[in-house]
Amino acid sequence: MKHLLSIDDLSKDEIEWILQKSKYRVTKQKILGTLFFEPSTRTKLSFHTAMYNLGGQVIDLPENSSQKKGESEEDTVRTISKYADILAIRHSKSGRVRELANYSDVPVINAGDGDNEHPTQALLDLRTINQYRAFVDSKDLTVMLFGDLLYSRTINSLLKVLDKSDYNINYILTAAVKEPPKNYITIKENEIGFYIDKVDVLYMTRFQKERRFNTTDWEFESRFILKNDLVNKMGRDAIILHPFPRNEEIHPEVDNNVRAVYFKQIENGVGVRSAVIEYLL
Ligand code: NCD
Repeated sequence: MKHLLSIDDLSKDEIEWILQKSKYRVTKQKILGTLFFEPSTRTKLSFHTAMYNLGGQVIDLPENSSQKKGESEEDTVRTISKYADILAIRHSKSGRVRELANYSDVPVINAGDGDNEHPTQALLDLRTINQYRAFVDSKDLTVMLFGDLLYSRTINSLLKVLDKSDYNINYILTAAVKEPPKNYITIKENEIGFYIDKVDVLYMTRFQKERRFNTTDWEFESRFILKNDLVNKMGRDAIILHPFPRNEEIHPEVDNNVRAVYFKQIENGVGVRSAVIEYLL
């Protein structure tokens, strides 16, 4: 039995298999259980859609579950794993999904744990990058990461998945990351304008309010808002990604810009999650 708890669990070939597979649909009469101990719109609903598209069924931990009677998360996972063939679990605490996976009789997919990892988001990010780079000959890529990078699980997983990709990447970071990638420079937010025309992939993230408990951390809070004046200085092939939810960091006027592909990125979440489910079942 195999879980997907981290990008570390996947080899280069397995990542390639999943990204290729996401173009196909296979029917299976299986049940996915979703246990989200933290809010979600896209991840949960795209997992549901992914499973329905495979011809499977979905059960979801009810709002009014026995957790309210003091049942432990361990017992909840044990229980649902008796009903479902595969589980997707999200938790606010880093490392908690890995702990809970020990109580499951069926494969577990990490749907995001604290500021640690979000492997399926990283896979759909890579799928989206591949899609838009397919028409460009060069494998050289300049990736700018914007936002609350230190506390972003999507960034943590993205750096790992890109490390296993075929791209030769130069990173421009606007804040500190947990594990720095190979080639990077760090810049201040007010310097973004000087570098923007060199960027192939601009990956935006929101301020992770719920993960910053230390008051001094709030100094990070950014005033930067991406607008078309800057976006129009990017190359024609450049793309803008965001895992969503967004706050103020991307102005809605950017949504109709050809480089804004974050809604396509959201759409890609369904096919990639179908492929991950198929891969683990
Ligand atoms: C992200 C998450 O939950 O980690 N959203 C998502 O799953 N697409 C990003 C975030 O919450 O900022």
